[in-house]
Order: sequence, then C-alpha cells, then structure tokens
Amino acid sequence: MHGITAGPIEDYLYSMLPPRDEVLVEMEAEADKRKISIVGPAVGRVLHQLALINRAKTVFEMGSAIGYSTIWWARAVGEGGLVFYTDGDRKNADEARRNFERAGVASRITIKVGDALELLSEEKQEFDIIFNDVDKEDYPRVFKLALPRLRKGGLFVTDNVLWSGRVADKKNKEASTKAILEFNRLLYSSPDLFTTILPIRDGVAVAIKK
Ligand SMILES: C[S@@+](CC[C@H](N)C(=O)[O-])C[C@H]1O[C@@H](n2cnc3c(N)ncnc32)[C@H](O)[C@@H]1O
Repeated sequence: MHGITAGPIEDYLYSMLPPRDEVLVEMEAEADKRKISIVGPAVGRVLHQLALINRAKTVFEMGSAIGYSTIWWARAVGEGGLVFYTDGDRKNADEARRNFERAGVASRITIKVGDALELLSEEKQEFDIIFNDVDKEDYPRVFKLALPRLRKGGLFVTDNVLWSGRVADKKNKEASTKAILEFNRLLYSSPDLFTTILPIRDGVAVAIKK
C-alpha cells in the first residue's frame, strides 16, 4: 500500500475497511498489477468523507489516471454533482470512461485530457473541492493556480505530501521532494488557508480556504 505508518498499524487500518463494489475492487487489482499509482481504498474513503462533510457538489481533480479517486468523489457529490476528471494521457481517459460507465457515475463526470494546470486555468467557476495528484514537481505551481479557483470554505486536498517519508530526510535532494517541501511550507504559511496533513498512506494534505 506504500504507506508510511508502521506495517502492523497499516495492516490493521486496511483490515477494517468495508468491502468495495466490483468495479473498485477490479480497479485496485488492475492498478496493483500494472503498477498504476492510485490513492487506494483508505484514502478513497477520506476523499469521499471530505466531500460529504463539505457538502461538495463540484470537484476539480488534477491527475486522475484510470479514474479510481474520481469514482470516490463522484459517489460523494451525488445526483446533480459534477466532478472534473483530468489526465494528460488519452488512453487513461478512455479506460476511465469505461470505469465510470460501469460504476454508474458517468453522468456526473466531465472528462478533460491535457495538462491539468492549464485545464484548471481555463475554468472560470469556483469549485467546492480541488484535488491535486499531478506530477510532484508541479505542486508549488498548482498551489498558486488552485487557490483562486476555490470557493470560500472550499477544500484544497493533495495526495503524497509525505512522499514515502522523504520529506523528513534532510539529505534528499530530489526535485520532487524539494517541490513537496516547498508546497507544504506554502500550505501551512498561507493566511488564506487552514491546513492539516493526515499521515495516512503517503500523506494527504487538507486545507480549507478561509
Ligand atoms: C498518481 S496518478 C493519479 C491517480 C488518481 N488520482 C487515483 O488515485 O486514482 C497521477 C496521474 O496524473 C497524470 N498527470 C501527472 N501530471 C499531470 C498533469 N500536469 N496534467 C495532467 N495529468 C497529469 C499522470 O498521467 C497520472 O495518470
């Protein structure tokens, strides 16, 4: 599961998760087999729960792959809700579309193929939630782009902010690690946000716009 918590704790947390439906279970198996990075069921539930708490109706997802996290959002926004799927890879989008149809949520999802940062800039509306899961080097740029697109009281949610623990390794000089460190600093120092990092799986940052 690529988690940062101690193995036995991680096992315990995952052992308690209620079973998922056939579509999600197959997507989890496929992601595992083909080494596609997805949030997995523990974080999927966090995303779903955040949308329910926030009574979110509009979600803009940046970096959607085969649409696993998109389905967790789409089920939470309910009838009349709208989730934007974005990915740079057309094949991913085609596969995601089939998954959305099978999951019965296709009518709630708008699929956009291209650079998620550009696609977000093109949107003029404000969103209830923006979920950031693109290439890590782009995280600081996403920070600047996302805030104006979020409504007051909206949530800015980001995956992988603990980066398998590399954020705590002072000797790590990778561009991705540096970008995440900068991003996390921006999140916590922004006067416009109230942020916490949930140390679940690979770390999920949740920031509410004040
Ligand atoms: C970690 S995966 C997303 C997983 C997905 N959120 C889930 O949990 O089911 C990251 C995806 O983002 C896409 N991606 C990365 N950077 C991107 C960008 N700037 N614009 C669009 N897609 C991007 C990659 O093609 C990849 O499919």
